[in-house]
Amino acid sequence: MRKLTYFVACSIDGFIGDESGDAAFMYPFVDEQFLEFLKTEYPETLSTGGRRALGLDDLPGRRFDTVVQGRASYEVALKEGITSPYAHLREYVASRTLAESPDPHVEIIAADLVAKVRELKAEDGELGIYLCGGSRIAGELIDEIDELVIKTYPIVLGTGMPMFGTGFDVSEFVLGEVRPFGNGVLVRTYSRKP
Ligand SMILES: NC(=O)c1ccc[n+]([C@@H]2O[C@H](COP(=O)([O-])OP(=O)(O)OC[C@H]3O[C@@H](n4cnc5c(N)ncnc54)[C@H](OP(=O)(O)O)[C@@H]3O)[C@@H](O)[C@H]2O)c1
Repeated sequence: MRKLTYFVACSIDGFIGDESGDAAFMYPFVDEQFLEFLKTEYPETLSTGGRRALGLDDLPGRRFDTVVQGRASYEVALKEGITSPYAHLREYVASRTLAESPDPHVEIIAADLVAKVRELKAEDGELGIYLCGGSRIAGELIDEIDELVIKTYPIVLGTGMPMFGTGFDVSEFVLGEVRPFGNGVLVRTYSRKP
């Protein structure tokens, strides 16, 4: 069974962006040390454009071979004219409104999102599935998430877009690795409690 991992950046109070989801104010925390960590440990989570700029074009997959994102997350790239933001992975975008995919490399999941994700998880393979976000799709897939990798930036927002756009429910996870960085960023890994 391949793992579905929600790999996400958030504030201390658990918001992944402002109320519209904009997370640009978090980018300055990706300093030299933290970028080195991302390049070494999670290179697939860097966009294809970012990887090219860093000379990581040909780096083989370390943890993921597939990415799943919601249409609103995908649109952040689309607005910049980027139709395949994770061209180094198999790309799936959940959407009921995108009539056709803007890019032959991107497959739209229009119906049965949970069933499709279960199908992807059931495939053979060593590498897992990167759940990129945002909030709403993470909320819909909460019961399918096997692992959380939470990059917490040392900021408090008070309000904003929650990590999971869903109703109240208790899901238990077990703490794994904790990695602090010099600039106050903390990366915690959790696995779903069996
Ligand atoms: N801080 C971080 O690490 C991080 C990571 C990722 C994203 N973000 C931010 O998150 C924001 C977007 O989050 P969001 O919650 O607004 O949206 P989202 O989860 O990215 O996308 C929501 C959209 O996904 C589609 N969708 C959701 N469930 C579906 C289902 N069951 N079947 C088919 N389609 C489904 C729908 O698209 P249609 O409306 O087309 O039907 C829905 O409007 C962005 O602003 C981005 O910057 C932050």
